[in-house]
Amino acid sequence: MSARLPLAIETGGLSLPETGSLSVLQPVAGFDLSPLPRNRLQVVQPFKPDFDHFQELGYDCLPSADTPCAAALVCLPRAKALARSLIAEAARRGAGLVIVDGAKTDGVDSILKEIRKRVDIHGPLSKAHGKIFWFHPKPDTFADWQGTLQAVNGFTTAPGVFSADGIDPASQLLADALPKHLGKHVIDLGAGWGYLSARILADRIIERVDLVEADARALDCARRNITDARVVFHWADVTSWAPDTRADAVIMNPPFHTGRAANPSLGRAFVTAAARMLTPSGQLWMVANRHLPYERSLEEGFARVEEIGGDSRFKILHAIRPRAHAKPTPTRTRR
Ligand SMILES: C[S@@+](CC[C@H](N)C(=O)[O-])C[C@H]1O[C@@H](n2cnc3c(N)ncnc32)[C@H](O)[C@@H]1O
Repeated sequence: MSARLPLAIETGGLSLPETGSLSVLQPVAGFDLSPLPRNRLQVVQPFKPDFDHFQELGYDCLPSADTPCAAALVCLPRAKALARSLIAEAARRGAGLVIVDGAKTDGVDSILKEIRKRVDIHGPLSKAHGKIFWFHPKPDTFADWQGTLQAVNGFTTAPGVFSADGIDPASQLLADALPKHLGKHVIDLGAGWGYLSARILADRIIERVDLVEADARALDCARRNITDARVVFHWADVTSWAPDTRADAVIMNPPFHTGRAANPSLGRAFVTAAARMLTPSGQLWMVANRHLPYERSLEEGFARVEEIGGDSRFKILHAIRPRAHAKPTPTRTRR
């Protein structure tokens, strides 16, 4: 996956500083970090499944970092605002060398063009449908690219999080279709910056909402958006997390992409996870793109499934009485 990094080190003239820490920003699971000196590496990854991957491999991992580093490798994300903010972050942390590795489909050519207007570029080397290049910035070279929190529809969001520019129409459709009372204990799976949880908390019958989100940046926004003491925030991978007591209802707008590709298996894993988090009479309320095939997983997991609304783009699905109950094991990934 990182075929370009060994190429740059072995034949491209990229030389790493001999001392000081090397910060790797947002590598995704599968990215090969072995060309870099492991004892000086720090992986910065806010997305819990990728964080867990590198932690299991024994790397020093953090969800965010603000400390100085000698060099930084930015694994280019698709969202342009996020890509810019990572480059600004690397420079601000004093990285004398910043390496950018990215796929063409994630916009590496366009960010290269922008960076080239500000600093001298080394490389670039092309391989495996992408490019790697490096440069030596000053701490303020990209100061204007720093990612700032933004206020949208009365909520706080951050660059690169889901629906950073406003309330997601599918989530709005689901929130509008929910019944007045969902029960005392509700779980919001893949809660993002907290829109669905914020909507349901108007119901005073609710005693507890577990808000579960893998993206630490989105979760930080959710903490700002919701200050209600009934909410417990979890930085966790839904597919491995379990509540300490089963819930009356799960609400969700599950993720349907891995990188660029549509990936309904992720949503199916959310359905399976929801089924094991609910009481025997528990209910799942979810919204999905109309073309995504979730019905079979829902029918496997629940005694009754119905479509209760939607529009030409989205469907709202309601499932009740989960069929199987595995004993819940409390997670260790709370934050
Ligand atoms: C379609 S968005 C919905 C966000 C939010 N519920 C809303 O309505 O605006 C799906 C969310 O699931 C999160 N997510 C993706 N994979 C996850 C995982 N394995 N565990 C927990 N959350 C995950 C994403 O970061 C994203 O915030």
